[in-house]
Amino acid sequence: MGTMWNGLSFMFPEESYMRMIVILAVTVLWSLWSVSSFFRDRNQPPLPPGSFGLPFIGQTVEYLFALRTADGIEQWVQKKIDKHGPIFKWRFMGFPMVIMDQPEGNKFIFQNEGTSHHIFWPPFLSSLIGPDSLMKQSGEPHKLARRHFNRFFDHAAMSRYLHGVNRNAVRHFTKHWQGREQLVALDMTHLYTFSTICSLLMTLEEGPLMDKFLLQFDMWAKGLTSLPVNLPGFQYHKAVKARKLIYEMLDGLLEQRRTEIAEDRVSEASKVDILNSLLIVPDEEGNLLPDSYIKDNLLLLLFAGFDTSSSTLAMVIYYIAKYPHVYKEIVQEHKLILEEKHANGKDDDSLTMEDLSAMKYTWRVIKETLRFQPVSPGSFRKTITNLEYKGYYIPKGWLVCYSHLKSLRILYVDD
Ligand code: HEM
Repeated sequence: MGTMWNGLSFMFPEESYMRMIVILAVTVLWSLWSVSSFFRDRNQPPLPPGSFGLPFIGQTVEYLFALRTADGIEQWVQKKIDKHGPIFKWRFMGFPMVIMDQPEGNKFIFQNEGTSHHIFWPPFLSSLIGPDSLMKQSGEPHKLARRHFNRFFDHAAMSRYLHGVNRNAVRHFTKHWQGREQLVALDMTHLYTFSTICSLLMTLEEGPLMDKFLLQFDMWAKGLTSLPVNLPGFQYHKAVKARKLIYEMLDGLLEQRRTEIAEDRVSEASKVDILNSLLIVPDEEGNLLPDSYIKDNLLLLLFAGFDTSSSTLAMVIYYIAKYPHVYKEIVQEHKLILEEKHANGKDDDSLTMEDLSAMKYTWRVIKETLRFQPVSPGSFRKTITNLEYKGYYIPKGWLVCYSHLKSLRILYVDD
């Protein structure tokens, strides 16, 4: 370092520099913000009520703690609403954020996607989510990537996956449920969903490699809701290490599959998995996808599809156990579908797309479960213009959140 710093080090011990620099930076930023608020157009509507809390970290720590308990976020948001009203500002990891009111705020966010705000994930997740992940894109590149992904979820793709899903369900129930008097639904749905997604994504079946994968994946996922401190002992650091191990496993799977493709010995199941499409179908410019893109997005799909489906399934089991008449009705619906198949001369009891669309009541139970117990508390977008919403000013670059607060939804079943 230069001489000025050497002079300072004469007066201060080493770590005091850093503290001084941080204090100076925060003071300068704070003054700039106050001056800019003073000169702000007096006719401009006020910012939403609420508090930013501590400089930079704001209310990050209390929010992350709230995320760890069952109704924590629900209570955290409700407390703020009681204090400031349904639209309020706060600060998360350096980002000023506005929680929008329900349901109008949510509608505003979904209807104005791309014009006043776009999808955005904070940069501190960068060490966990690769740069090529769909989650890292915003604006036009995000739209393009999403179009690319749609082919994995259209009707034709779903029909291709159905056989694997069926096979996996039968295997799961035979191995883990049969002959047991009691089991923990959440453990079972966790295992079932993970094995189903691994099978759909890359034909990875239950066994030691999948167990290792699940262990590392759980470690990685915990990092997404922990303080982003990449130092030994911190959860985030463990998650970064877990991601490295996951990518090493994926490297092995990619190499193995490439060899199988080259030697023309890809199994029937692997031919319809998502890894196969990612390896052989070129992008819109005709280029094969790079490994970094394939790995980042396999991890994204695992993340997006696993905990969401697993906890929804567990909640469905909870509600049908609690409301036996609902369970009876579901069984009745399935029996009728099976009888009709047999009456039409079909001996194969495997599920078909037609069977799924005939399960009207079952779908309603799943939708009602999702309405009653949404798996995600909400998400956010970054504003790309200055906004005015219900008499409040929301500057460009702030984050706006949509949310699903239980207390504001209409409930049909007693909790
Ligand atoms: C009950 C099951 C599920 C629920 C409740 C659910 C819910 C959600 C929600 C709330 C979002 C964020 C939307 C946003 O803020 O714009 C999302 C995004 C996403 N989900 Fe799901 N999801 C489920 C299952 C799945 C499955 C099985 C997959 C695929 C394997 C999947 C793939 C995705 C992807 C790729 C995104 C990111 C979209 C983007 O960035 O544009 N989800 N999901």
